[in-house]
Amino acid sequence: MICVLVGQVKVKNVGNCCKSVEKSTENDRNTATVKITIRRPDDWHLHVRDGTVLQTVVAHTAQHFGRAIIMPNLKPAVTDTASALAYRDRILAVLPADSRFEPLMTLYLTDNTRSDEVRKAQASGHIHAVKYYPAGATTNADSGVTDIGNVMPVLETLQEIGMPLLVHGEVTDPAVDVFDREAVFIDRVLAPLAARLPDLRLVLEHVSTRQGVEFVVDSSERVAATLTAHHLLMNRNALFTGGIRPHHYCLPVLKREQHRLALLDAATSGNPKFFLGTDSAPHARSAKENSCGCAGLYTAHAAIELYAEAFEQAGALDRLEGFASCFGADFYGLPRNEDRISLVKTPWQVPADYPLDNDRLVPMRCGETVDWMVE
Ligand code: NCD
Ligand code: ZN
Repeated sequence: MICVLVGQVKVKNVGNCCKSVEKSTENDRNTATVKITIRRPDDWHLHVRDGTVLQTVVAHTAQHFGRAIIMPNLKPAVTDTASALAYRDRILAVLPADSRFEPLMTLYLTDNTRSDEVRKAQASGHIHAVKYYPAGATTNADSGVTDIGNVMPVLETLQEIGMPLLVHGEVTDPAVDVFDREAVFIDRVLAPLAARLPDLRLVLEHVSTRQGVEFVVDSSERVAATLTAHHLLMNRNALFTGGIRPHHYCLPVLKREQHRLALLDAATSGNPKFFLGTDSAPHARSAKENSCGCAGLYTAHAAIELYAEAFEQAGALDRLEGFASCFGADFYGLPRNEDRISLVKTPWQVPADYPLDNDRLVPMRCGETVDWMVE
């Protein structure tokens, strides 16, 4: 490990990613870090929806992130190149003129997706991955894949052209306990798939279990995972603190503390297979506070700040830059962002909600504080 002297403290140089860390008192390594400067981060898993809500939610991400992988689970789903490019245009249209934010588009895999469509998508230059939802696994996954056998020819094409397959890794079998659905998916679907197509580039999205982490660590360098801020910061108790908490319900559902710790270890390990993907998933308050509430947490309003909290908790702020700003770009074969952002340890209060169409959007930590602020 090379050490470089930046400001007053020695920091590790992780995978060519240097960052500066300032401590509150000169020459005192025991005082708290008050400011970090990192390469501009990217979000490798994001939902921005469509129509009038785009304006609110895209602005939150575009404020600090350079790029984001945009999930295709609209209604109707984004299943072909033409609709992905049209969606991209709608996102670009809500950005301020001086914004350099880049939406990286994806295609939604269905039983009927054809190999020539994914070749066409890649040739467009704007579509960077294909998303695999097991049918019915999550929000707007009804047109997902009913049996992986149905999509083998397309997956072989993805392997051939080197385009990543982004996996929602949960079985839908109602006989499987909801907290075990990721672990069972790995055994039943993902491990056999990785063995059958060893050169396929795979991302286990929003990994939520120790078993998921272990699968990724033990697989080839073509297998990676995204980690959300909420799975790093909360365990399943957060679903029931003082009553049922619909705004903490997402899929994959939050797990036990032992899993959260495994995720935090993976995120802060410096292993380039693990990178940032918020899975920020806006739903109107009325759809969350409902007798059958939707899955999804909204974190885009404070995303990099929440990750900074998690990394600080783990004593690993020096590893944030690799995770947030380097490893994802490297995996996707894209250049790292060149500019920098700074985060300062200045607690701020998250609003109770944001406007969303004729409803409201309740963000993570609503009415509470977040420890870090982007300068
Ligand atoms: C996502 C959504 O709302 O689109 N929900 C969620 O709980 N994460 C879908 C998904 O990524 O599973
Ligand atoms: Zn998602």
